[in-house]
Amino acid sequence: MKAPLRVGIAGLGVVGGGTVKLLAHARDLLRQRVGREIVVTAVSARDRAKARGLGCEDVPWVEDAADLATRNDVDVVAELIGGEDVARRVIEAAISQGKHVVTANKSLLSKHGTALARAAEERGVALAFEAAVAGGIPIIKALREGLVANRVTRVQGILNGTCNYILTQMEASGRSFHDVLAEAQVLGYAEADPTLDVGGFDTAHKLALLTSLAFGTEVDLEGVTTEGIERITPLDIVFAREFGYRIKLLGVASATARGVEQRVHPAMVPLDTPLADVSGVFNAIVTQSDYAGKSVFEGRGAGEKPTASAVVSDLVDIARGLRLPAFVRPAAELEEARRSPTDDRVGPFYLRFQVLDKPGVLSIISRGLARGGISIESMIQRGRAPGESVPIVMLTHESREGDLKAALSLIAEEEVIMEPPCMIRIERFQGDK
Ligand SMILES: NC(=O)c1ccc[n+]([C@@H]2O[C@H](COP(=O)([O-])OP(=O)(O)OC[C@H]3O[C@@H](n4cnc5c(N)ncnc54)[C@H](OP(=O)(O)O)[C@@H]3O)[C@@H](O)[C@H]2O)c1
Repeated sequence: MKAPLRVGIAGLGVVGGGTVKLLAHARDLLRQRVGREIVVTAVSARDRAKARGLGCEDVPWVEDAADLATRNDVDVVAELIGGEDVARRVIEAAISQGKHVVTANKSLLSKHGTALARAAEERGVALAFEAAVAGGIPIIKALREGLVANRVTRVQGILNGTCNYILTQMEASGRSFHDVLAEAQVLGYAEADPTLDVGGFDTAHKLALLTSLAFGTEVDLEGVTTEGIERITPLDIVFAREFGYRIKLLGVASATARGVEQRVHPAMVPLDTPLADVSGVFNAIVTQSDYAGKSVFEGRGAGEKPTASAVVSDLVDIARGLRLPAFVRPAAELEEARRSPTDDRVGPFYLRFQVLDKPGVLSIISRGLARGGISIESMIQRGRAPGESVPIVMLTHESREGDLKAALSLIAEEEVIMEPPCMIRIERFQGDK
């Protein structure tokens, strides 16, 4: 049998601790399948005194995680700390010492992924990050290996379990975003500072990585148009349902004639398409490619077991000697991302206007939309309350986003419009009805 693969683990929290446990739990299975053992030979975390119950108390402890890179008994450094400063130092040290790197750090990779991939390839080591996107779903492997002969044209995903949980609960209970968020924080499904999740930024980090894998472009986080779910109301969820949609926070990357379009925003998803049924903390991704067509991936996007499963799959690739470029093609050959402006996107939209209930309001709105070249497909006006605020809800035909935004900002200036109009994009899925 080959010599064991020796792993230094930096970070023993949810992902790092889970990885230690899975390597012990699946030890025999992995030995049979891989033909060699994968052993933890050194660990590092912040607090040495913390009781962790991981069964690795006898494994050598390293005070500064970056020093894992200089140990002779470490072949791979698993950076499972998170954040950007220490993590970057740990990964750069590992690469410069010729150690393979496994990480789950989407935030760091979304900003420095191209540079780190280049450095790793120059040094001839792996940079693997299956756990960074969609937890236990092997989407990186799917794009890097399974779909490698395809031209991928679109990736659409529910990539943040916290947002999906909140939207699912809002629909089930009719409660407001803030109510459900507060409950999610108590239950541990949302962070004390939820901005990264509910603001769409975590989804943007993951999408930037998927875009690079799918389209062969440099990781371009700044090219992702990002909106969160904070402004979604129970009313919009109810109207969405009446029109045959469900609201989801989506990350979408498309190859367009003008370049790569990357956007994160709440979207109306048709009820009869796969992403509509993905509920709670689950993640899902739909890819569209020229030979395989539509592929749908669904599973647990976070948590100890799913992320450990992903980290260990990367370790197994390294143990087997598989050395693939981090982003499908060699990092030096990744193309600069040509950004396709979101304003040029053409699609249908859901619009809600809170208006003063008085005669003539509807024609003010329709005139404003018509001036911008926006035509209306259907409309709901419900509940009369003369002199008070009532909703008027519309679906548009295919419209250019920039034109719609311009029309809405003019309409918003009308006296009868009581609050800024709500606009939610309707997402189409190729290959569906
Ligand atoms: N949690 C998930 O479901 C999930 C899913 C996908 C990706 N990720 C990513 O995985 C990474 C780790 O996340 P996590 O949820 O496992 O975080 P976590 O539970 O907070 O664990 C972080 C670990 O890093 C250690 N640490 C902090 N600062 C350190 C330092 N300066 N030097 C050495 N160790 C340090 C902590 O030590 P102490 O234990 O001593 O405090 C802790 O063990 C992040 O990049 C995250 O984005 C997480």
